[in-house]
Amino acid sequence: MNETKQPLEVPSAIPSHLPIQTIDAAIAAFVDQIERHPAMRRLLGKETLQEFALAQHADNVRWMALMATMRDRCTNPALRKALHANMMTETGGSEGEAHQTLCLAFVKSLGIEPGLGFSGEVPQLARHWGLIVDSMTSAGMNEGEICGWVNAAEQLVPPLFAKLRKQFVQQFGDSVDLRYLDAHITGDVRHGEVMRQATIELLANDPDKLRDVVAGVDLGGRATLSVLDAMNALHGLRMQAVAA
Ligand SMILES: [Fe+2]
Ligand SMILES: [Fe+2]
Repeated sequence: MNETKQPLEVPSAIPSHLPIQTIDAAIAAFVDQIERHPAMRRLLGKETLQEFALAQHADNVRWMALMATMRDRCTNPALRKALHANMMTETGGSEGEAHQTLCLAFVKSLGIEPGLGFSGEVPQLARHWGLIVDSMTSAGMNEGEICGWVNAAEQLVPPLFAKLRKQFVQQFGDSVDLRYLDAHITGDVRHGEVMRQATIELLANDPDKLRDVVAGVDLGGRATLSVLDAMNALHGLRMQAVAA
């Protein structure tokens, strides 16, 4: 971490109450599903893991525009501040290196030289993730849904990446640059906490938004699980092809 930069500030604790516990329970249920997912209980092949890395690169190319769109759709000051702070970390403006830089190093350490626009054949998993992200932006999510979706995105990434990290180490050994995964395993815990505090404030001001926040968590959680489903299916197809 760059010592001269200010780390992302976690707002002082606000007492929890029932609405946030509903969100916590919804996210915990998705964490459980991630940890028990078949793709996390087997060792995925190198090719499938490489595609995951490439899909992350595709995600990173879109992520800042997506976050900016989401922030600009929100009016709640705490939520806007949390999303903005999140973006600052992504660019390396508040701590560490830009995530796009770390992701590129991650992908290259796996022997892939990604094009900027995926002008050639687009890997299946990157295409899948791109469709999810595009559907989010075009769906015109409202403030509560955005809040829930980003909560899910930030809080599900640390357990997901921690599981996948072990697979990358097993398959690629010391040659893989894991800083991208590590930055998210630790950094997204903080992002998740910032988002959670903003959610408490949002729901304190407008309890009627709880239904939208839950819907957003559900969208984000299902999108994450669908990536694992796709990885599992790709791995299975490759295994069948090898056996044939
Ligand atoms: Fe990131
Ligand atoms: Fe994050």
